[in-house]
Amino acid sequence: MTSLVFATNNTHKLDEVRAMLQPEYSIVSLAELGCYDDIPETADTLEGNALLKAQYIFNKYGVDCFADDTGLEIDTLNGEPGVYSARYAGEACNAQSNMDKVLHLMENKTDRKARFRTTVALIQKGEVHYFEGKVEGIIALAPQGEKGFGYDPIFIPDGYDMSFAQLSADKKNEISHRGLAVKKLVEYLNP
Ligand code: IMP
Repeated sequence: MTSLVFATNNTHKLDEVRAMLQPEYSIVSLAELGCYDDIPETADTLEGNALLKAQYIFNKYGVDCFADDTGLEIDTLNGEPGVYSARYAGEACNAQSNMDKVLHLMENKTDRKARFRTTVALIQKGEVHYFEGKVEGIIALAPQGEKGFGYDPIFIPDGYDMSFAQLSADKKNEISHRGLAVKKLVEYLNP
């Protein structure tokens, strides 16, 4: 089994990605690597932030690794929150306050089109490779569902009448932004 560091401690993301890469790859989290640093995410693009995270780990530990960065892009908000999705409601925000801010800004908006976009940056043998995934959908009028994380309760993917937070983990992985980006990563790693 090949070890690959995923530069995250987000257990939801780890579960999603492990389900796709096991058993060929053993995915190592930052905590398992012994890294508790606050890794900067100061770039203004998803690619830039994914690379910052992967590069930080590669520079410090010299191991093959990958990182992802995700943004929710809402058309009527000119693509916001986008690269600022994690802290949209300010420094002390959480998933609930971020969703509240989106729903507040979307009050009375009829155009509710949005997409999740993920970029994965892989550093393998010192070379950088990018993989992108996106999923189109709409912003719900109110949160629905308990599964998933982040903005999942307010995102309804096209072709479904349920939010990401109401879909099974397997179904979300099959159609989601990160699922599609990781699928490309898997195809690259296991041609
Ligand atoms: P990051 O990729 O961890 O920086 O995520 C940026 C923001 O998007 C955070 O607020 C996450 O909670 C949110 N996010 C990332 N992936 C997902 C997802 O699959 N569903 C819902 N929200 C997500």
